[in-house]
Parts: sequence; C-alpha cells; structure tokens
Amino acid sequence: MQAILIANPKGGSGKTTLATNLAGCLAHAGDAVCLWDLDRQHSSLEWLKLRPSHLPRIVRLDQREHLPKKAQWLVLDSPAALHGKRLTELVKEAHKVLVPIQPSLYDINATRDFLAELKEEKAVRKQKAFVGVVGSRVDPRTRAGAQLITYIREHDLPLVGWVRDTTLYVNAAFEGRSIFDLPAWQAEREQAMWRPILEWVQAE
Ligand SMILES: Nc1ncnc2c1ncn2[C@@H]1O[C@H](COP(=O)(O)OP(=O)(O)O)[C@@H](O)[C@H]1O
Ligand SMILES: [Mg+2]
Repeated sequence: MQAILIANPKGGSGKTTLATNLAGCLAHAGDAVCLWDLDRQHSSLEWLKLRPSHLPRIVRLDQREHLPKKAQWLVLDSPAALHGKRLTELVKEAHKVLVPIQPSLYDINATRDFLAELKEEKAVRKQKAFVGVVGSRVDPRTRAGAQLITYIREHDLPLVGWVRDTTLYVNAAFEGRSIFDLPAWQAEREQAMWRPILEWVQAE
C-alpha cells in the first residue's frame, strides 16, 4: 500500500480537487483506492457520497485501523493550516506528499515556509517520503506557469505536473466524479495533463 498525502496549509490551494481526482485516476487504472478526508470541512467526503456506484470504486476511510488489506492506494486529503506535530504525523504515514500551489504571489509566499518545514521533516530527509509540487489552476505555457517553475527551482523540488483551471473539475465534482469519469470527448486533454503526475505517484 502506498499513501499519498495532499497538503498545503493555504485554504483553496486545490488540495481536495487534487485528492479526489488522483483517487479517481488511480481507481480508473483498476487499483484498489481508499480516500481519507482529514479536513473537518469534509469536502472530499461530500464528493465521495455523491459518487455514483457504477463508477470505479473509491473506498472511504475514517480510521487507519480500517484500512482494507487489499488497498493499494491511500489518498489523504488534509486540512488548511496543517503544520507542526500533525504534519509530522501525516508525513510519517505517507510515501509521497503532493503540494498543489497556485501561481500567485500570495499563494507562493504563503507556501514558502511550509515547503521549508516539509523538507526538514525527518521522513523526507531520510527519503522515506518524497515531496512533489503540482501547479494548481495553471497552464504550464502561461507566464504564471513560468513564475511557478522559477519559484519551485529555488526549492529544489520536482514540479511533477499541472492541473489546469477549468470548469470540468468544478462540474464533475457536483456529481461525485473526477475528470477521469468524464467521456474522452469532453476531458481527454485534461486527462492527458495528469500523465506525469500519475507517473510520479506510481514511481518506485
Ligand atoms: N483546477 C481547477 N480548476 C477550476 N477550479 C478549481 C481547480 N482547482 C480547484 N478549484 C476550485 O477552487 C476552490 C478551492 O479548491 P479546493 O480543491 O477545494 O482547495 P482546498 O482543498 O485546498 O481548499 C474550489 O471551489 C474548487 O472547485
Ligand atoms: Mg479541501
């Protein structure tokens, strides 16, 4: 089992969108996926409740002890303001940590201390957990995308992929769907954007 923690202390950075779509992506690949919503706002949970039963199954987890033996993936959606002891606990659980960052000055500044803290986590220093950044609500070919690339280079962290700003995510969420549950004619381009993210997540 591999646990993927989605984290950024800034609210609205795209954690839940990344978590639910990553879970959907892995479920579509045929894997057994659990989703654990650690945020009291329960956005991922709301999404999961809406998810039609005929779609690739994503199992809700609410306690570590309840993790099914056959689970291959555990996606952890985390709350805003995550840091300190709680962050350490969760990073210890995780094999990989994905940090969605929007390419605005405010988001970048708000995330700076967090990335520094994350890199100092023992599990990260000992390479038990790997950190990757995802450009959130941004196209890599834009000026904002270039800004994010420059910023991430400073941190010496991999920028593993891009989740573009599109209403596909918003509309799909209303129906408990990820973009991988949408027909190819509608979401093919967006689904293709996820390939590098999936490769990074699946890499040994
Ligand atoms: N790639 C995207 N395209 C369009 N809207 C997005 C995208 N990512 C997030 N959003 C929207 O931005 C808001 C915050 O995103 P969310 O995933 O809930 O962030 P967080 O969990 O970090 O608070 C939500 O309204 C969500 O629908
Ligand atoms: Mg959220």
